[in-house]
Amino acid sequence: MAFYLSTPIYYVNSTPHIGHAYTTIAADILVRHHRQRGEETFFLTGVDEHAEKVARIAVEQGLSPREYVDQIVGAWQELPARVNASIDYFIRTTDEGHKLFVQDFLQRIYDKGDIYQDVYAGLYCVGCEAFKTEAELVDGKCPDHDVEPEWIEEKNWFFRLSAYEDRLLQLYEQPDFVRPAFRANEAKGFIAGGLRDFSISRAGQTWGIPIPWDPDQVAYVWADALVNYRSALDYARPDEDLTHLWADAHHLIGKDILRFHCVYWPALLIAAGYDPPKQLFVHGYLNIDDRKISKSLGNVIDPLDLVDVYGVDPIRFWVARVVPFGQDGNVTLESFHERYERELGNDLGNLLSRTTAMIARYRGGELVFAPTDRSELALAASALHDEVPIALDAYDIDGALETIWNHVRRLNRHVEESKPWALAKDEAQADELDRVLYDLADGLRVVAVALAAYVPETAARILDALKQPPLDHAWGNVAYGGTVAATGIEAAEPLFPRIDAPTLA
Ligand code: MSP
Repeated sequence: MAFYLSTPIYYVNSTPHIGHAYTTIAADILVRHHRQRGEETFFLTGVDEHAEKVARIAVEQGLSPREYVDQIVGAWQELPARVNASIDYFIRTTDEGHKLFVQDFLQRIYDKGDIYQDVYAGLYCVGCEAFKTEAELVDGKCPDHDVEPEWIEEKNWFFRLSAYEDRLLQLYEQPDFVRPAFRANEAKGFIAGGLRDFSISRAGQTWGIPIPWDPDQVAYVWADALVNYRSALDYARPDEDLTHLWADAHHLIGKDILRFHCVYWPALLIAAGYDPPKQLFVHGYLNIDDRKISKSLGNVIDPLDLVDVYGVDPIRFWVARVVPFGQDGNVTLESFHERYERELGNDLGNLLSRTTAMIARYRGGELVFAPTDRSELALAASALHDEVPIALDAYDIDGALETIWNHVRRLNRHVEESKPWALAKDEAQADELDRVLYDLADGLRVVAVALAAYVPETAARILDALKQPPLDHAWGNVAYGGTVAATGIEAAEPLFPRIDAPTLA
């Protein structure tokens, strides 16, 4: 079993914002989880460099496009690193291997007879890097970018998308091809409106990949960018053949780019003689005050600023928890701070502080191996073991986290109900106290393994505080009774110290 997951490749016309971090973190949670299950995984992210808007920014800054992208790419490479995303390859569409692959890919479609020359005249939104119909505009403007599209008229190369209608409809009939299901209906809606052939090249531009049979034109940015998901497998590892992973390719995308991924991309692949990807998952937007976060709207939160203030795990936790994955969600920094204190600080942080403090105080730091035969925590751990993978197979990132959080809450109740402070006063209850302390420590270990995909650093710190061997991620460890006896346990430092709510620009 393999799990190959990609994020969209991000435009480099600006620096990363929390919306981009959202996709990258969600993808990382899924990949880390599949890795815990012992599957072969591959995680691809990167940047989309050949956009017209990128070329324009370069001109504004007095740089060549190549100089510009080379200068800004560092900020994008830093994004996965700073949010602790365990990527396998960072693709740039200016990679030589990608360029050669795209040329071969387009040549295959051309040779098959599905690319022809025609004149295009229409409105182009540089923000979307897409042609727009009048019907898609609001007051003459692109609703996503709030700008009037530009009139473009040029002779270029068209892909015969209309010939792929039936194949695409068959694909959408596969229940898992596009998820959530309502997004598959949206994709069908694009087809119901009639598929129009689209231009895969641009004339009069030099920034882009030259069309092999007509080097005066460059590939349209989407006909170049989409191909990254397949090209990377050919050259990301010079010594290793990764192409078998294509059969398990999953794309995680935002709803803004559904049409390109669900309609154009599978059709291009089939035309070039490749299989479509296995599955696409379309998530919603993170909104601030109900508006999409984007550079052009000016309501950007720099994710790296948040990481600087809170550390990386609280951001990962929040992203996974704040919005039902797949839907849109409105976020505020206040709600983030509130969750940091209540859920991370109180529910989880205090549970570890209390548990370790009681082991230190009542048992001189020694944890006795004292599992109970019919512990309700054993049943709960076993349910956790079974339910989380089912939820994550359905991309229910928030639902799986809620299941884990229920276990955290159950452990907190266990402290209240079993009252270890009362047991500690009574010598006759010494064994019972050992059992309670063991159950709490073991419950925390189970939570740590289950949370490892979400908050990897925190998971490791929990095990360290309990003087357990370093985190073994294997999912089978989400089971009652795996905690070993230990000595030298001290009252742990707070996992999530109090922070003054910052004001971020
Ligand atoms: N370059 C294209 C994608 C090409 S993929 C072959 C592109 N880039 S983008 O930088 O504009 O946005 C990429 C993705 O970033 C979106 O699809 C989405 O996954 C994510 N997001 C950008 N803003 C977002 C929010 N405000 N909320 C959630 N995700 C957001 O489109």
